[in-house]
Amino acid sequence: MAADDGPPLSTFLQREASLEQFREFVVHRSIYHLKEADPHSWAIPRLRGRAKAALVEIQSDEYGGGRPERMHSELFRATMRGLGLDDSYGAHLGRVPAVTLAISNAMSLFGLHRRLRGASIGHLAAFEMTSSLPNRRYAAGLRRLGGDATATRFYDEHVQADAVHEQIAAHDLCGAFARDHPSLSGDVLYGAACALTLERLWAAQVMSRWLRGTTSLLGEVVAA
Ligand SMILES: [Fe+2]
Repeated sequence: MAADDGPPLSTFLQREASLEQFREFVVHRSIYHLKEADPHSWAIPRLRGRAKAALVEIQSDEYGGGRPERMHSELFRATMRGLGLDDSYGAHLGRVPAVTLAISNAMSLFGLHRRLRGASIGHLAAFEMTSSLPNRRYAAGLRRLGGDATATRFYDEHVQADAVHEQIAAHDLCGAFARDHPSLSGDVLYGAACALTLERLWAAQVMSRWLRGTTSLLGEVVAA
């Protein structure tokens, strides 16, 4: 799967984006990252065997491996604070367009229905398999704009973590699930396709706004 076959949003953020545009990017992402991992955790009790163990292994990293300050949602809070943004959950909900909400809603939909558990893990795998390189670019972009190590840690952490998670998600999670449930293997691909399609639509909308010189958000950004 290509990491970014839509508009080159991650490259733009790395090389050209203004601080205000990077803050907008973080506001969009906050809808998911402030609850990062929760929607996919709903699939854990709906899996068995090797697939279940693989999902728990990935999620354990997402939740900081027993260290609350290393939870990915907390690392993202630090990024938001570093950019002077309100880091409380839902603070920016009214500022994001429908396509941003759709990204979050799709993973909640998959996670909340046992019959869609294949789509849920496919969705997660697509995220894990395509995020390592973009996160490297986000980290570089934020450093270019003056972000310190605390602010960039969320992205730096994902460069390494997702390279490892990619293998676990593809082989141990989705591979094992598809072997155990051949009739649901199409659902795994469907979930992956949903993740990639929504991400592409979202990136296209944000980039089109920025290229026109306008904000990608609705109204004013909520400051810390
Ligand atoms: Fe994460």
